[in-house]
Formats: sequence, structure tokens, C-alpha cells
Amino acid sequence: DFIVPLFVIEGNKLKEAIPSMPGYFRFSLDLLAAKAVSLWKQELKAILLFVKVPDNLKDNKGTEALNHNGLMQRAIKTIKDAVPDMIVITDIALDPYSSFGHDGIVEEGKILNDHSVKILSEMALSHAQAGADIVAPSDMMDGRVLAIRNQLEEANFHDTMIMSYSAKYASAFYGPFRDAVGAQGLLKGDKKTYQIDPPNMEEAIREVEEDINEGADMVMVKPGMPYLDVIREVKNKFKVPTFAYQVSGEYSMLKLAISKSYIPPEVIDESLLCFKRAGADGILTYFAKDWLLRHKNSR
Ligand code: PBG
Repeated sequence: DFIVPLFVIEGNKLKEAIPSMPGYFRFSLDLLAAKAVSLWKQELKAILLFVKVPDNLKDNKGTEALNHNGLMQRAIKTIKDAVPDMIVITDIALDPYSSFGHDGIVEEGKILNDHSVKILSEMALSHAQAGADIVAPSDMMDGRVLAIRNQLEEANFHDTMIMSYSAKYASAFYGPFRDAVGAQGLLKGDKKTYQIDPPNMEEAIREVEEDINEGADMVMVKPGMPYLDVIREVKNKFKVPTFAYQVSGEYSMLKLAISKSYIPPEVIDESLLCFKRAGADGILTYFAKDWLLRHKNSR
């Protein structure tokens, strides 16, 4: 049920702590390969990749996102070489590559939807060419799932799947993640013009429906615990593979409170079980390793 997010950086033998995500690290490619092997041995069979690229490679055109020899493209190949059966899922959004920290192209303070969609679909194709099994658009632009689907079909990538971040809310729980990919300091303004307004359930349902119609194989609700009602609603209504993302802020809150013994580590189990109860088929979580450690004797 677990999908493990991993953060990748350039360099050699680097395991870099992420200050706002205690116990979580960024890995250079050599260590990424070893990490994939060790996850596979623990029966963790799906990785979600994110990259932190140097600031001097960022622009407002997505140039580095489309680099066939970019860090993400090499990371995909590294994992597939190390563990060919590992399911590799990649994030499709421009924020790790954007000089504005945004998921799309910015013009005069506005995000250009259609222009961004074109670049995002080329980015998805480049990940598929590098060997990604599943592309996961997290950008929330309108029409991107159809554009990605068409782009993949035209290039004969009929089997590449799309896991769409369909109901992604404009949440304050993503802060630690933005640190992890180096987008926090650059972000101009907020993402409220493309991510969903937290009190709105109906838009989440409409977004999920659109993504299914455009060709998504799986849908996702994000963040996790504060949006369990949305997961249940989506699962009941559409009965498609539905994933929950327990995001960085949720992880850091629990991790920090556990480390100070304010709450016991059992909360990890509850925080994951609730997604299954709400109807999620799988969970994207930074806690997979902690969960396995806690349960290694009972498995
Ligand atoms: C990028 C992206 C974000 C996350 C996943 N992909 C951040 C954002 O939209 O600002 C959040 C993941 C997390 O907080 O763990 N589009």
C-alpha cells in the first residue's frame, strides 16, 4: 500500500538532511541506487521521485525539466538499472525548476495555463522515455491530463500510466516539501489560483471527474489527514484507484512530537490506517520505513 517519496540531488555519496523533515534525506544518485535496493528488500515496491536542482539551472521556461540528461531523467534510469521491477513514479510540475517557485510558467504575476500544459506534457514524455512507469502531474493546470495522455500515445508510450494529483488543495502543509526541493525561498505569492480552496468539496469532485475523463489511471487526494472526507467521497463516487498523500507537514508534525515524546509512535499507525478506512487504495507517505520498523516482528 505504500509509495515512498525520495528526494534526489547532484553529487557523490551525499545523504543530506532536510532540516524541516527530521529523519528524511536527499540522496545523490549513487546512494539512490543503494536506497532502491534496500527498499525493494523491505518489499517497498514503488518510489515517487522529486529532485532538487541547483538554482542556476532554474528559469521561467522549464528548460531543465526537459533536459533528457537532467537529474530526474538520470534518477529514473539509476533506479531502473538497480532494481528493474521497482515502480518509478515521477512528479510532473515545474516548481523544482522554476525561478518563481511555481508549478507553471509565470507572466506578469499570472500562471499561464495552456503554455504550462504544453511544457508539462513534454516533461512527462521525457520521464517516460527515461523509463518512468507512472507520471504524476501535481501542477493542477486545467487540461494537463489529456495533454499528457495524448503526448504519450503519440510517442507510443501506451503503457505509461498517469496518477493524477486530482484533488490537490492550496494547503499550508506543503512547507517542508518546498524546502526539500529548494522552492520555498523562491516562491512568489501563493498557489491559490490553481490549487483547490480548502473549504471546497464540489471542486474536488469536479476535478477528479475531469481527470478520469481525460485519461487518468489513478487519482489522488492531497493533503491526507485533514482531507479524509474528500478521499471517502471520491472513492464512493467514482470507485477508481484512489490514493492519499500524507504530505510533508503532516510527517514533520508527527515526527517532531514523537521525538519529544509528546505523543507515542503508535500515532504513525493510526495516521496511516485512517487512509485505508477512508477508502484509499494506496498511500504516499514519508513514514513507510518507520512503519516497517515498528512492525518488523509481527510481519
Ligand atoms: C509540487 C509538489 C508539491 C508537493 C508534491 N508535489 C508542493 C506544492 O504543490 O507546493 C507536496 C508534497 C508534500 O508536501 O509532501 N507541485
